Amino acid sequence: MESGYTKSSDSHPVLTDRLARPLRDLRISVIDQCNFRCRYCMPRDLFSEGHPFLAPRQLLTFPEIEAVVRAGVGLGIRKVKITGGEPLLRPGLDQLIRRLTQIPDLEDVGLITNGSQLTVAAERLKAAGLKRISVSLDSLEPQTFSWITDRAGDPARILNGIDAARRAGLAPVKVNMVVQRGINSAEAVKMAAQFRGTGVIVRFIEYMDVGSRHHYQSGLLVPSREIRDAVHARWPIEPAGSNYFGEVADRYRYLDGAGEIGFISSMTQPFCGSCTRLRLAADGKLYNCLFASEGLDLRSILRADAAKRSQTEALQLASPEVCRRLEEALSGFWRARDDRYSERRQEQNSDTEPQRRKVEMYQMGG
Ligand code: GTP
Ligand code: 5AD
Ligand code: SF4
Ligand code: SF4
Repeated sequence: MESGYTKSSDSHPVLTDRLARPLRDLRISVIDQCNFRCRYCMPRDLFSEGHPFLAPRQLLTFPEIEAVVRAGVGLGIRKVKITGGEPLLRPGLDQLIRRLTQIPDLEDVGLITNGSQLTVAAERLKAAGLKRISVSLDSLEPQTFSWITDRAGDPARILNGIDAARRAGLAPVKVNMVVQRGINSAEAVKMAAQFRGTGVIVRFIEYMDVGSRHHYQSGLLVPSREIRDAVHARWPIEPAGSNYFGEVADRYRYLDGAGEIGFISSMTQPFCGSCTRLRLAADGKLYNCLFASEGLDLRSILRADAAKRSQTEALQLASPEVCRRLEEALSGFWRARDDRYSERRQEQNSDTEPQRRKVEMYQMGG
């Protein structure tokens, strides 16, 4: 398949990759640190107190992130998701949201958080222009919650954060639950019950072998089908169709009108064929797949002419030359892309591939 430009229905150019997938989304990690130590993401034995996380000067600044987003919007990106690590640990995050929500043609700016700081932050995020939010919550049981996040904590705090987000007018609020057999799988129906009828959309996520610095155990994977059947047996549900091309969640609605839930089944029903996402790590590396090993260094492009510019200029938007180079880099990167990791893994029918270092979820976000 030839990559390049085609026309969308509204006659805007659409940049496509080698598998004819259009570029639509950018997921931006703003920090690689987190106050949780979820065992499937940042296990405490590998990420102890002294772990060398990125230093402040290694993080892209907000004007730098804005420059990348503006270049991406020129190439067809319409949706941005801010992630981490835990994005609310990045000082002044609302300033970034304010910048991004003012970019013309960018239709959607969302945020994915562990919810631990949300009670305090919700109003501020909304005031900065954020419309919607996704909160990760794997358990409603204090003991299980603390075990999974490997931190003494209480899910009530996250539930309060979710309430604060709703009160602030963020909508929709989504709750992401990564389901692991024998750990929290028995709680799936309870999680559905918790949010039925509230407008909050629960999405059940299949546990994935993303990253390499954790102890993935394939026996913990629960196919979405099982959860769907369990919820359906309690409250009948029916498929609800997609909101947009490339939506990763399969949406279902309760027949009694109590709202919707979703299933993200990247292990048992991979969706690489409609993958429209690029990922920007906090250090400025660009990745084209959750399972990539190598990234493209945009920070060196962004800082190439820093020495020639005054500090005030550098704090403003990137120079026209940098913008041109960014656009070229993003476009070349997308056009060359042919990754379809999850589909390949399923075709090979193996849950253990040859050991290779992959980028970690906490580095480039979920
Ligand atoms: P919205 O449609 O914007 O609400 O978000 P989303 O459906 O893209 O979901 P969200 O951003 O909340 O991501 C939820 C989870 O889906 C992530 O944490 C990942 O586990 C999984 N996911 C998202 N994108 C991909 C992807 O490109 N590949 C794979 N394999 N998993 C993904
Ligand atoms: N499998 C599935 N989802 C994961 N996440 C992190 N690691 C994994 C994994 N191994 C999810 C988190 C959160 C988002 C940021 O990424 O639960 O919802
Ligand atoms: Fe857990 Fe998300 Fe933090 Fe990883 S980034 S440790 S999944 S809360
Ligand atoms: Fe996209 Fe890679 Fe996920 Fe497939 S595995 S959907 S190519 S990010």
